[in-house]
Amino acid sequence: MLIAANWKLYKTQAETRTFCAEFQPPGGVDVVVCPPFTSLAAAVEGGLTVFAQNVHWADEGAFTGEISVPMLKELGVAGSLVGHSERRQLFGETDEGTARRAEHALAASLRVIACVGETEQEREAGETEAVLARQVAPLPRHPDLVIAYEPVWAIGTGKTATPEIAQEAHAYIKSLIDAPVLYGGSVKPDNAAELLSQPAVDGALVGGASLDPDSFGAICRAAAP
Ligand code: PGA
Repeated sequence: MLIAANWKLYKTQAETRTFCAEFQPPGGVDVVVCPPFTSLAAAVEGGLTVFAQNVHWADEGAFTGEISVPMLKELGVAGSLVGHSERRQLFGETDEGTARRAEHALAASLRVIACVGETEQEREAGETEAVLARQVAPLPRHPDLVIAYEPVWAIGTGKTATPEIAQEAHAYIKSLIDAPVLYGGSVKPDNAAELLSQPAVDGALVGGASLDPDSFGAICRAAAP
């Protein structure tokens, strides 16, 4: 099981150090945290396995506001998220750009969690499978690629997908690509065990509930063997 914390635009370096001092990851679970860029080094120094929240497809160049694979590797970062729905919806990132980011990072031995998921409108229109197929199609096939299924309507809303909805979407994604699939979207200590017990759910990507070391620790323990 892989449990990943997506801190989004939260936690300064000092707050990251405090988290590291308080957080106790259980044995037998692959736990990673994704801090903002300025807190990556503090999280690495705190002894955690650290992923970035995004990575560019070029090692250097005229790409204002981006971060590259060599910059991340120098800090001891082990991987990156790509294609989070907030990147897609608020910053105009595309399926193709997400795939390029994933491909470049994987080729340089970073692990990658590529995020996919439908909006509420797409689900209601019966387009969930078409959207997932479109998002998964350009992604590279690679042993270090993990998919995160994050229905957009469940992110930060407290409206978690039912275990049945998650299982159905994960099974569909696995019919498209041979990769572990994490569930993301309002995962909390009180719903983690049930979601993680679904056969096609291989872990979780946790936003809000990952900011507190106790609640993130409880979710990690729900994934422990
Ligand atoms: P949430 O965020 O757990 O706060 O819903 C999940 C995510 O966006 O990765």
